Amino acid sequence: MGYHIISAAEAASLVKDGDTIGLSGFTPAGTPKAVTPEIAKIAEAEHATGRPYRINILTGASTGDSCDGVLARAQAIRFRAPYTTNPDFRKAVNRGEIAYNDLHLSQMAQAVRYNFLGHVDTAIIEACDVTPDGKIYLTAAVGISPTVARLADRIIVELNAAHSTAIKGLHDVYEPQDPPRRRAFDVYSPGDRIGLPYIQVDPAKIVGIVEVNKPDEARAFTAPDPVTDRIGQNVADFLAADVKAGRIPSTFLPLQSGVGNIANAVLGALGRNPEIPAFEMYTEVLQDSVVDLIKQGRVKFGSTCSLTVTNECLRDIYDNMDFFRDKLVLRPSEISNNPEIVRRLGVISINTALEADIYGNVNSTHVCGTKMMNGIGGSGDFTRGAYISFFTCPSVAKEGKISAIVPMVSHQDHSEHSVDIIVTEQGVADLRGKCPMERAELIIEHCAHPSYRDLLRDYLRISAKGHTCHNLSAAFAMHDTFLRTGDMRNTRWEDYVK
Ligand code: COA
Repeated sequence: MGYHIISAAEAASLVKDGDTIGLSGFTPAGTPKAVTPEIAKIAEAEHATGRPYRINILTGASTGDSCDGVLARAQAIRFRAPYTTNPDFRKAVNRGEIAYNDLHLSQMAQAVRYNFLGHVDTAIIEACDVTPDGKIYLTAAVGISPTVARLADRIIVELNAAHSTAIKGLHDVYEPQDPPRRRAFDVYSPGDRIGLPYIQVDPAKIVGIVEVNKPDEARAFTAPDPVTDRIGQNVADFLAADVKAGRIPSTFLPLQSGVGNIANAVLGALGRNPEIPAFEMYTEVLQDSVVDLIKQGRVKFGSTCSLTVTNECLRDIYDNMDFFRDKLVLRPSEISNNPEIVRRLGVISINTALEADIYGNVNSTHVCGTKMMNGIGGSGDFTRGAYISFFTCPSVAKEGKISAIVPMVSHQDHSEHSVDIIVTEQGVADLRGKCPMERAELIIEHCAHPSYRDLLRDYLRISAKGHTCHNLSAAFAMHDTFLRTGDMRNTRWEDYVK
């Protein structure tokens, strides 16, 4: 091959205190897994001798525990962007120990190119193959790999035997030009390809190959429960009715769906609904449920940034690549999530909220306005440009002590101007073409849990009249009451009304 084979520890020793590393991957799929634990060991050793050691991490989305987890526990992270789901990372962020920049995922690669996030010293790229002339074939995701590989001073390749070279050809690697010379992307349907199946780098920049045999650290999601099932059913019934009413073309539209248990339940319900024709996905992550629907012929094509599937499911794809090859494409996150393409294709977006307010503003990221949960992920990329944007969530959290429907969101990620439909297990609020007070009635009566409806109706009675009615002294009373007493149901408006 002509490259140096080095150990993960040797590779890690190239990363110095204060350096910025750029990683392949998007979710645990395709993320390097061997060098980052060795970086954590260096950090611990340096800290033990009283020396500082903290690095900056730029990546596509969340990673696995062998990256965000071990590095957060070793206090080795100074700055990181974007989305992450790791509990130890989350705790460190909420203790104020890590500077976390929660960017829209479509903007991450260009933010690196525009030099908004500093210089990339080392790119660590997981690959299934690399050629002597610098062609790197990625694994189960693309993320921001093309950009960090091109911009980094040096590249470390984790050649991971747990991935099959059968995946070669699934990637469509394309890096847009920077403004003012950017050209339109020629993606007019989810299956259109515009790039190359590999990343081309200067082979002289590849300082070492680390041989690895570690599977992706993908999480298995729990089976749907009655609440997520009901949410899924509500979404599917609503979309079927919109097709019947002629608001969605009879051939249907490409779908984006978030990741997690609710997303799985929604996709399952869509797949089972005979009134919804077989459809395509233009999305950022594909989970096991979509792979099942592809096998059943219910999903015709999946454009995605990553295969965030269980290892069993990934093996199934690798073993049956002849079947999957013309049904999947893996794109960089700035293309999979590109708002321009989302608007053009008429993507229907379905994402999950932590809480929504009675006017349709959505909080996806901050518990009670202060504690970071995960991040905005790609939800904003898709919501703003969507043909129809959905937000789903259970009507209550923590055994009913928290209402997901509140007077005013305690942090705002998506505004009422971009949110079309809110769905809980209680029902659906179609906010299209509605004024704020019509929305409030629909959301309270169709989406709020019955144990909170009177409270929310009473909030409107104590609110100042306006285009949007609010009582600014009481708008966060439910959150405040939860923080003080542990249960939003204890809220008494008279304690807040001045
Ligand atoms: N206040 C406090 N906690 C809340 C809450 C609220 N309003 N709503 C939910 N929670 C808690 C749940 O109780 C649960 O806690 P647990 O982990 O201790 O059990 C946790 O938040 C997750 O909620 P869950 O109902 O299991 O939903 P989820 O796993 O689907 O996660 C989001 C929901 C919003 C955190 C997740 O979808 C997310 O990070 N979204 C933003 C990114 C995104 O939308 N990406 C889409 C493109 S892939």
